[in-house]
Amino acid sequence: MDHTTFFNRRDFLKGAGAFGAMTLALWQGGCDSCANQIAHRPKRRNIANMASNDPDLTTYQDAVTKMKALPTSDHRNWANQAQIHYDHCPHGNWWFLPWHRAYLLYFEKICRQLTGNSQFALPYWNWTSNPTIPNVFWGNGNPLFDPNRGVPQGSTADPSFVGAPVIDNILGQTNFFLFASNSAVNQRDFSGYGMLEGTPHNYIHGWISGDMGAFHSPLDPIFWTHHNMLDCLWVDWNINRNNPNSNDVHWTDFQFTDFFDENGNSVTVEVMATILYPIFLYQFEPCAPNETGSKMSNKQLERFLRAGAPVKLNFLKRFELQQSITAEMGKPTVGAVKVEEGVLRQAMEGTANQHVVLTIGDVNFPDKNDFFVRVFLDKTDVTPQTSLEDPHYAGSFAMFFDNSMHDMAGHGKPAYLVDVTPAIRKLSQAGSLPQGQVDVSLLPVPFPGREAAGQRITIGHLEVAIAQY
Ligand code: C2O
Repeated sequence: MDHTTFFNRRDFLKGAGAFGAMTLALWQGGCDSCANQIAHRPKRRNIANMASNDPDLTTYQDAVTKMKALPTSDHRNWANQAQIHYDHCPHGNWWFLPWHRAYLLYFEKICRQLTGNSQFALPYWNWTSNPTIPNVFWGNGNPLFDPNRGVPQGSTADPSFVGAPVIDNILGQTNFFLFASNSAVNQRDFSGYGMLEGTPHNYIHGWISGDMGAFHSPLDPIFWTHHNMLDCLWVDWNINRNNPNSNDVHWTDFQFTDFFDENGNSVTVEVMATILYPIFLYQFEPCAPNETGSKMSNKQLERFLRAGAPVKLNFLKRFELQQSITAEMGKPTVGAVKVEEGVLRQAMEGTANQHVVLTIGDVNFPDKNDFFVRVFLDKTDVTPQTSLEDPHYAGSFAMFFDNSMHDMAGHGKPAYLVDVTPAIRKLSQAGSLPQGQVDVSLLPVPFPGREAAGQRITIGHLEVAIAQY
């Protein structure tokens, strides 16, 4: 019996209650064969470790070819799968990670079903250790090639978005919202990009561009391996490093109704089920810088994952800029945010876990997302050439949107959350801690070789907050 089928029938269709009873029985030894299957659950591997005839790669190619050949009446058809994303993907909110996790799981099941390879595990592209788009995605006639890409073969992703120190810093965020994007009410609300989504995720989309640059991005086969890397990093953050997800029932009990299983039938997926996938349904080859396994037993892990934590982005003090600012490509716009005297020093010296969080909100989408944004503190003369070793450098984020979103009324405008604590600490150590005012410089930088001239972004809300978590 394929354990994924078992989970489908018993649990995912009937909700978390049945899932609970089953897993309990499992750990008590009530289902020996399941325990064995779980121990040998498919391992999603790094493409860089695969030969070109690796069964996971050839199956992936075969699956893409077969999905493209399915009639448009079939929900498993390649373009129909991408349409699910276009119509329903949550971005800039806390459903980003679980939604894409479920999307990948059902995609992987479809690949297994269509190819007959029940052992197939979706590969991932580790852009941290291999920042060049792998060669397996290139070549005319190759099902994994997408001719619409805006980057040529051999281009390398910018380490300030995907490099080990940046990813390690993101994985070091202990607050779920800063790591995984902010809480929201509706699936497609923009409430705030966390650092995983706003930095490497958005960057890879915008940089590759073409199909990847907008909401039909799953048309590019690289999409699935990009999101698999993100899923692996969530596993590292949540399971290896034991950072808790939110236990808010508006999140854990939320149901996605957008997916189709391997037979093309509609499924309903509860967020809590997706949280448990990585301990029951698949595992990963290590993907994170400095990865170590979890110190918990599986039983402890399951309890930990189910429990989550009452996560809050607890803003003790907030300092807002009362005006909107506009930035042109290649030139910084500076928001001078007045803060209480001494408040940053207290945050640096206090014993409580205080952090300085920057919110860049009410961001107006420009026409194209052909650029990314650098953030500097208390340095106003920055250019695209300013060194990122400069102690004033505080982080970078990128955009990912579809132009159709211009018309998506009622979803709000995106916001980006950046933990600027490390930058403030560096400035403090250099004896230049901002006093009474923080000059926030936002610098839009066009992607190399891309036409972004004349574009501007307007930021309606800029806030420096002291947060405790
Ligand atoms: Cu919903 Cu990276 O895409």
